[in-house]
Amino acid sequence: MTDLTSDAFRKAMAHFATGVAVVTASSDEGEQGATISALSSVSLDPLTLLICLNRRSATCRAIEQSQRFGLSILSNEQEGIARHFAMPSHAKSMDEHCVRHEDGTCFVRDALVQIGVEVVETLRGGTHEIFLARPVHITMNEDVEKPLLYYRGTFDLLA
Ligand SMILES: Cc1cc2nc3c(=O)[nH]c(=O)nc-3n(C[C@H](O)[C@H](O)[C@H](O)COP(=O)(O)O)c2cc1C
Repeated sequence: MTDLTSDAFRKAMAHFATGVAVVTASSDEGEQGATISALSSVSLDPLTLLICLNRRSATCRAIEQSQRFGLSILSNEQEGIARHFAMPSHAKSMDEHCVRHEDGTCFVRDALVQIGVEVVETLRGGTHEIFLARPVHITMNEDVEKPLLYYRGTFDLLA
């Protein structure tokens, strides 16, 4: 059995293959966005999803302020976008990658799916905030079919 260090835990959980999304929100500090893999559907009644964000993330602070965010599920052609939004906030620009929904929410252009959500509850999970949120609008991109995947610390593509 492996010792239960944080490194062992991280390595073990990296075997759980996920999709990749970018979460975007605006605050006094401007528009923020971060790449995430901690995203899950929670409930169909009421419609609920969750994301987990490190409290040190600028995007986390923006969501705490605005209580809403845009969720863009990335396609297999958007690894570069995933890398871009994983950079620290001062190192990345939002405008060139984003399109704005009529309600003002920013989304990643050409993402597989764009979901606008409102936060319904925030829970503390160690270093992270867990945002439980309600989808308010969904746009499916019919032109792209395959998601970007993340597995054992590397981006992967569906065959
Ligand atoms: C594939 C991938 C998945 C990630 N998933 C998460 C996540 O679920 N939650 C999180 O807090 N950070 C996650 N990160 C790290 C953030 O993207 C990174 O810390 C980013 O700099 C945060 O940006 P911000 O400070 O501008 O909000 C992930 C990074 C990568 C590359």
